[in-house]
Amino acid sequence: MNQAIFYEERNVTAKGLDPNNKINEDKLKSYIFKEDYNNLNLLNNIKIPLGKEEISLLYPGCGVDVLFPLIYLEKLFPQIKTANLTFVDSENVFGLIKTVLDDIGISFAENKSNNIVSFHWKNTLINLNFVLNKIESHLPNQEPIDIYFEKAFRIMRDNIPNYENNILNKIKPNGILISDSGFTEQNLKTIEVPKILSSYQEMIIGIKEEIKE
Ligand SMILES: C[S@@+](CC[C@H](N)C(=O)[O-])C[C@H]1O[C@@H](n2cnc3c(N)ncnc32)[C@H](O)[C@@H]1O
Repeated sequence: MNQAIFYEERNVTAKGLDPNNKINEDKLKSYIFKEDYNNLNLLNNIKIPLGKEEISLLYPGCGVDVLFPLIYLEKLFPQIKTANLTFVDSENVFGLIKTVLDDIGISFAENKSNNIVSFHWKNTLINLNFVLNKIESHLPNQEPIDIYFEKAFRIMRDNIPNYENNILNKIKPNGILISDSGFTEQNLKTIEVPKILSSYQEMIIGIKEEIKE
């Protein structure tokens, strides 16, 4: 794979919400490895039962990757009108995330007092809250979530005690787990997905089943 991806933070200003954002697809492609970009088409035929129009999503160890969760949401849950995303990282990557959004043509509004940017992604209003913290320190304060998203975090979270159970406890009944590693021993109703969506070949999408008394 002869492709390198460079990130350089710019001081981007919030230009406000724009429901008619035009995503610059060439620029977007430049932020994703070609093979990964092509593999995203594999999501087109996956159906997941989540009837909600407003959801919350947690993405620990997000790094600068704002694009994958947005594309997963767009393809897997096209009915969602509002998505409240919590991105948690131990490094301050918020400036880079805003630079990527600006680069690809997404105009956003910003609330600097609480690290939230809001923008339209296709038909969905996104409210993205960046939390600068270790996920293990943040998790006790996290409200229950509809969707958990994980990518390229396997090595880091292997060192966090009881990680998978603590995450599962934060997912609402009938909530969805999307991860490129682990969670095979958890009590999830899994949906068949191509393993190749994960660079570890471990892709898993599962539904946390409601426990009936
Ligand atoms: C390999 S990068 C993956 C980034 C992104 N998920 C992706 O797919 O491009 C791992 C990220 O996890 C962050 N990280 C490492 N340990 C962490 C922790 N305990 N809590 C939160 N973030 C952590 C790092 O700062 C880094 O941004």
